[in-house]
Amino acid sequence: MDPRKASLHDTPQQLLKDVERRFAAHQAAISFSGAEDVVLIDMACHLGLEIDVFSLDTGRLHPETYEYLETVRDRYGVQIELLMPEPDAVAKLVHDKGLFSFYRDGHGECCSVRKIEPLRRKLATLDAWITGQRKDQSVTRTDVPIEQEDQAFSTADHRLIKFNPLADWTSQQVWAYIRQHDVPYNKLHDQGFVSIGCQPCTRPVGPHEHERAGRWWWEEATQKECGLHAQNVVKMVG
Ligand code: ADX
Ligand code: SF4
Repeated sequence: MDPRKASLHDTPQQLLKDVERRFAAHQAAISFSGAEDVVLIDMACHLGLEIDVFSLDTGRLHPETYEYLETVRDRYGVQIELLMPEPDAVAKLVHDKGLFSFYRDGHGECCSVRKIEPLRRKLATLDAWITGQRKDQSVTRTDVPIEQEDQAFSTADHRLIKFNPLADWTSQQVWAYIRQHDVPYNKLHDQGFVSIGCQPCTRPVGPHEHERAGRWWWEEATQKECGLHAQNVVKMVG
């Protein structure tokens, strides 16, 4: 593997090209859920890059999000691998605590079953993953670099690199790209949703609210990571 580390001056397109060059086929993948990620898919497709795409199907996504996954698949002709949670783990959680335990106990347990465990399984097969995280998305993301070792999912014998090509982009830049390139987006954005996760844990935001205010709105802003990007929170408290 090429030891060259991504530079601050790399554009997202240069970074994506570099990822494809540095990693073997099927060893790097875009983690797809929304507006930022579809920009990365659009860029990768226009550059003719062979980068895999996966998405975490928690079983609790909005119908509009499932439709959107299909739209992106058709538009770009890409396979989107859907990662499902372990059925036994979901059954036990629902049996023990019901379908809405996150409103009482916090979102950690449900996210752990429906997102983190399937993600961990997938990341164990990859050398690199590419996310759409941005610095200005959250108080937990202000230090997100464009390239980092993934400290949450690397293990003693498996080093995983995480790329955040849009780390320095603003939401305005993302949406300007979407409009300019006629990129498909989730219909929920036209109904006041900005940051979109699972249906029971996402709501639209008002004009002057922060984009993350609609995620797990019953919890503190500093807790609004579900474990996908746990190292952001570790950094904050550490
Ligand atoms: S979350 O951790 O709070 O849910 P957020 O919605 O901000 O994350 O998205 C940040 C990045 O995490 C996305 O750009 C995407 O790369 C990844 N991500 C979030 N949710 C999913 C999902 N359901 N499937 C795949 N990747 C996801
Ligand atoms: Fe469960 Fe909500 Fe987390 Fe989705 S976002 S996995 S429904 S707690």
